[in-house]
Amino acid sequence: MYPKINIAIDGPAASGKSAAAYLLSKKIDYQFMDTGIMYRSFTNHCLKNKIAFESEDLILAALELFDIRWVNGHFLFNDQPPTEEIYDKNVTSKVPIIASLSEVRKVMVARIQEMVRSQGFIVVGRDISSVVLPDAQLKIFLTSSLHARSERRYKQYIKEGINITQEQVYNDMVIRDNVDKTRSTGQLVIVEDAVILDNSDYNLQTTVDKLKILYDNYFSHKK
Ligand code: CDP
Ligand code: CDP
Repeated sequence: MYPKINIAIDGPAASGKSAAAYLLSKKIDYQFMDTGIMYRSFTNHCLKNKIAFESEDLILAALELFDIRWVNGHFLFNDQPPTEEIYDKNVTSKVPIIASLSEVRKVMVARIQEMVRSQGFIVVGRDISSVVLPDAQLKIFLTSSLHARSERRYKQYIKEGINITQEQVYNDMVIRDNVDKTRSTGQLVIVEDAVILDNSDYNLQTTVDKLKILYDNYFSHKK
């Protein structure tokens, strides 16, 4: 049995972070934390409460009152588990506004750090290796081609019955990538000590197997 460590996984949208990291967490008995859920749930909260997206002050005031807790390996937002609503189109389109606010990011980063107090976490996001957990023992940048990612997201949408064209998904993905890479704080970067895994040509299961190899390698190289 290996001692528990913390694993940070960052990467662009639809690179397979959530799906693959979740399956890895089951394999190695780790807690899986998808920080995108925090940004999405808070954005949904702002939409529901009609908080003006133009006002950083109002958004910050709302965030101060927005309780985020990690209980038994799951998020609770104001005592409620996250809902499927957070993946709705209107949340997806507004979340980059929230995620671009540096003061919001500061609060989110501090809250994640408070929740991840021990070892044994796989934390997934955009700024985990660079800002949130720079001391994580294993840092992985999971990526895939724009083509592979937009195809995956398109298939997800079709499965969910969402009426959208492949071209729209591709164009949205280009915009999302750009926003992720160019915001002033917490932008998506590849840190120096990250291992890059490009899974463009792998299915989900192979991606999980490759992640498991990176995990095993961490311990064999440490000896
Ligand atoms: O699944 P998808 O990649 O489309 O998005 P997500 O990972 O659920 O993230 C939702 C939004 O939150 C995106 O706009 C991310 O850029 C943002 N996010 C972030 O800014 N920082 C994180 N640590 C995680 C997500
Ligand atoms: O979390 P992130 O936005 O990086 O992506 P995801 O939601 O985990 O993955 C997007 C979709 O691609 C999901 O339906 C995954 O099952 C699928 N996927 C895939 O088909 N092949 C892979 N190698 C990785 C993910």
